[in-house]
Amino acid sequence: MCPDSDSGPVLQGIEPTLFPLSASAELPSPDPKFLRNTWYVAMPSPELGEGKLVHRTIMNEPIVFYRKEDGGIAAIADRCPHRHVPLSMGTLKGGDRIQCIYHGLEFGADGKCALNPHGSKKISEALQVKSYPAVEKHTLLWIWMGDKPADLDLIPDYSCLDDRDELHVTRTGYLNVKSNYQLLVDNLLDLSHISYTHAGILGNADTAEADPEVTQDGDVITVTRNSKDAETPGILKMMALDEELKQRGDQWQSISWFPASNLRLEFGASKVGEPKETGTGYFALHFLTPETEKTTHYHYTAARWGVQTDDETNRELRDLIYKMRTFAFADQDVPVIEAQQISMDQAGDNLTPTLLSVDAGPLQYQKVLDRLLAEEA
Ligand code: FES
Ligand SMILES: [Fe+2]
Repeated sequence: MCPDSDSGPVLQGIEPTLFPLSASAELPSPDPKFLRNTWYVAMPSPELGEGKLVHRTIMNEPIVFYRKEDGGIAAIADRCPHRHVPLSMGTLKGGDRIQCIYHGLEFGADGKCALNPHGSKKISEALQVKSYPAVEKHTLLWIWMGDKPADLDLIPDYSCLDDRDELHVTRTGYLNVKSNYQLLVDNLLDLSHISYTHAGILGNADTAEADPEVTQDGDVITVTRNSKDAETPGILKMMALDEELKQRGDQWQSISWFPASNLRLEFGASKVGEPKETGTGYFALHFLTPETEKTTHYHYTAARWGVQTDDETNRELRDLIYKMRTFAFADQDVPVIEAQQISMDQAGDNLTPTLLSVDAGPLQYQKVLDRLLAEEA
């Protein structure tokens, strides 16, 4: 990691935030901050075309991404140390250098100034910006925000996106959500909401009473909900061939949380009384990356399994699944969560949720996150 002459003012801007479930978790909550020594999704790989400079703000830090000549990914602070103009407005030159649009300083992928065209051409210590480890895996670009060595083994397993028929994977959607990322984690780890917020599309009254079973493997939390002989929700109806399964089936949802905010849901149904493997469904993949304390980059995609329909149908389904899920998130989840954030902000710092049995998953992940934050602190 390069010395960071650029991060001081940015880090000073981070303020404590309210994490409601911390209040009732058993472990003492450290100052709420972002977990840094972990991987976050910056964007889907195709978004970073060759020769492009792409800006993202992550944890209040402006970052510019580009592809290096050796195929690797560069990520450096997007703020020129001279007069603070975003480097992403500049030009990508040979040797993996960005030339600042304002007065022509050039910076390499390590964040160091490689050329000062002015005066004595001296390059002072202060003329450098922070650089971040960044890699490409599972068709996504990942960034490591911490100061410990980046650990590639900590990238969650999204191999369900690799080597899969392109007709079985939807395109990756993106939403910029005006809430803290933890409200979105809470939402995904408590899937009882699908019976209400997404009634008809993703859930219904039959799935409302499924009790969550929470398991922990290392720092990974998995919440499973099963519903026997339940009405098949709209999105699964489209994927089923069997008329019986189009009406009713045994359903399950099993969602895993990987610190700090990446999730993988396995969602599907099989005919009543028949094994899971005979059914159909999809992996619903959710990548939450804090932009600020109150805004979150939300990327999502889906990869089908147990595909029963033919290619012609799958071509249509790929688009339909994307549209239905985008509707469910953008038009159903996000308005609720953004309103929740406003409601919590109005109440100030002393708000404690009244928890229900469905909060078992959110409580468990909060404990793990609190511990990781405390270790980092
Ligand atoms: S602001 Fe970048 S070189 Fe002046
Ligand atoms: Fe939802």
